[in-house]
Amino acid sequence: QLEDTLAVIKPDGMEQHREEIMEEIRAGGFSILEQKEEVLSREMAEEFYREHRDKPFYHQLVDFMCRGPCLMLVLTKENAVEEWRAMMGPTDPDEARQTAPESLRARFARDVLENAVHGSSNRQHAQQKIDFIFGEIAAENEDGDE
Ligand code: CMP
Repeated sequence: QLEDTLAVIKPDGMEQHREEIMEEIRAGGFSILEQKEEVLSREMAEEFYREHRDKPFYHQLVDFMCRGPCLMLVLTKENAVEEWRAMMGPTDPDEARQTAPESLRARFARDVLENAVHGSSNRQHAQQKIDFIFGEIAAENEDGDE
């Protein structure tokens, strides 16, 4: 069963490793349903990471995400949410290099903040974030109730 997830190449990833990351996405068999390159406004970044608003790194995270363009992608594949998370590896690249040395974060992340890529953590978050970034049009690709 096909599934969508939201992937983001973050400003650090865009600066250094955009093409390598895109190559991995294609090689991984994901279809790219939508894509948009944009410098996020503060408001967008704050809302995007709203669930982290009480974390000590929230303001740093928002500053970082607005620093330069992000590439936002809707990726489609069977089991896309989990597959993209596996491809990214753990949040912290030190951990990623231990447990998933082939992962994108093991190879391309600078540190736990500037970790190259983002991916939705589950199907529900994926659909929420896709709607938030791309508007309701993307939601019509979901199977089921449209
Ligand atoms: P992401 O998977 O996009 O979700 C939340 C982001 O917060 C995470 O990637 C990192 O960019 C950042 N982050 C998570 N933990 C920390 C931390 N301990 N210190 C700084 N930034 C963090």
